[in-house]
Amino acid sequence: MTTSTTTVLTVNGSRREVSAEPDTPLLWVLREDLSLPGTKFGCGIGMCGACTIHVDGAATRSCQVPLASLEEGAQIVTIEGLPGEGVPGTADEPGERGLHPIQDAWLEAQVPQCGYCQPGMIMAAAALLRENPTIDAETVRASITNICRCGTYPRVAEAVAAAARALGQS
Ligand code: FES
Ligand code: FES
Repeated sequence: MTTSTTTVLTVNGSRREVSAEPDTPLLWVLREDLSLPGTKFGCGIGMCGACTIHVDGAATRSCQVPLASLEEGAQIVTIEGLPGEGVPGTADEPGERGLHPIQDAWLEAQVPQCGYCQPGMIMAAAALLRENPTIDAETVRASITNICRCGTYPRVAEAVAAAARALGQS
């Protein structure tokens, strides 16, 4: 029998204490214990990307992260905290709407359809843009492996490339 332990996490810039079994997937901790339902459950086996968040800035599929595997001090950011993740003067700086530049680009390109996959898709795109600030649509198509049952891939690629162009001009 596994017993709950208390773990301290930094989530969206705030210190959060969680009491859960060490093998609890981070996805469940975020949704159930921390009331952050923006991160979605899709496949539960690391394939679809609906549960993508950032851990220390890297796109991470939270259904595959046991609570006990997190380093103390790891910076976890979910879709709810993405606008605040930005560092002034960098490519992540929030834009005029107070959103992350990727979210602005999403609105401009009208990317979502049903919307279910979109938080994970946006988190994957934001990490990709940070790694490659001059990315083009073709590279986005090859790099983002999140699954969208509505087929928004062309608009995802368009939005990320537009965000890269906008950031390049700013
Ligand atoms: S729910 Fe995590 S990858 Fe599908
Ligand atoms: S917008 Fe419907 S699953 Fe992607």
